[in-house]
Amino acid sequence: MMRMVLLGPPGSGKGTQAGALARRRGIPHIASGDILRANVKEGTELGRRAAPYMERGELVPDELILDMMAERLAEPDAAEGYALDGFPRTVAQAEALDGRLSERQQRLEAVVYLEVPEKELLRRLSGRRICPDCNAIYQLETMAPRQEGICDACGGGLIQRKDEQPEVVRRRLQVYARETEPLLDYYRRTGLLHEVDGTIGVDNVLAEIDGIVKGSATEAAGKRQA
Ligand code: AP5
Repeated sequence: MMRMVLLGPPGSGKGTQAGALARRRGIPHIASGDILRANVKEGTELGRRAAPYMERGELVPDELILDMMAERLAEPDAAEGYALDGFPRTVAQAEALDGRLSERQQRLEAVVYLEVPEKELLRRLSGRRICPDCNAIYQLETMAPRQEGICDACGGGLIQRKDEQPEVVRRRLQVYARETEPLLDYYRRTGLLHEVDGTIGVDNVLAEIDGIVKGSATEAAGKRQA
């Protein structure tokens, strides 16, 4: 059982790490951005309402996100834990998640913050490609697909995200600093926050997070026995 949150600015590696960790631990990787992009692609009411915010690099309003995430977290595969990526992103979202967990006598085991300097974020995002079919993530310089433009995992065609133009990336970074950075103090106060250097290579970052997850699981088991 592991309920964890990956926090960090755009391009810090939340999706990369949450995906790897979820595969390793057999828990779902729940990414609010992926759910939103799937809704935009399918042309749902939620997608139609969210798209203008996403294209500008702004946050989608909390009420839309909270309904969407409540629905996703209620699915059976989330009963035994999850790796959350991109949610919560505001203090109001974090409070709503805490409320939901305490109603169910549940708690988060760990919040991992991936620290990456802005220059590196901009470099990574300019060469990112994603698979819209299976959500796999690539980087043309450092994690290129075996065959250009084709997803290694499912054979889908790779695309560049619509919110990857430089001015939208700049806006996303500003919005992150204003709306999401306050969550670091929020989770620091609860003792759940673990800060990880996100620049040390994908496998090294994963090893660090895995160590944190193991430590948190052992601590939680100790508390249950006490
Ligand atoms: P979302 O999809 O969540 O985007 P984001 O938070 O901006 O994060 P990214 O997906 O850009 O980056 P990441 O940290 O996952 O990095 P990645 O692993 O891809 O949100 C998009 C939009 O949806 C928002 O702007 C907003 O409008 C809306 N939204 C979503 N959730 C919301 C919410 N809760 N509330 C309101 N609105 C919401 O890695 C980046 C690149 O770096 C990749 O190419 C990867 O291959 C590479 N890389 C990863 N790790 C490493 C490493 N260690 N070394 C070198 N390269 C690496």
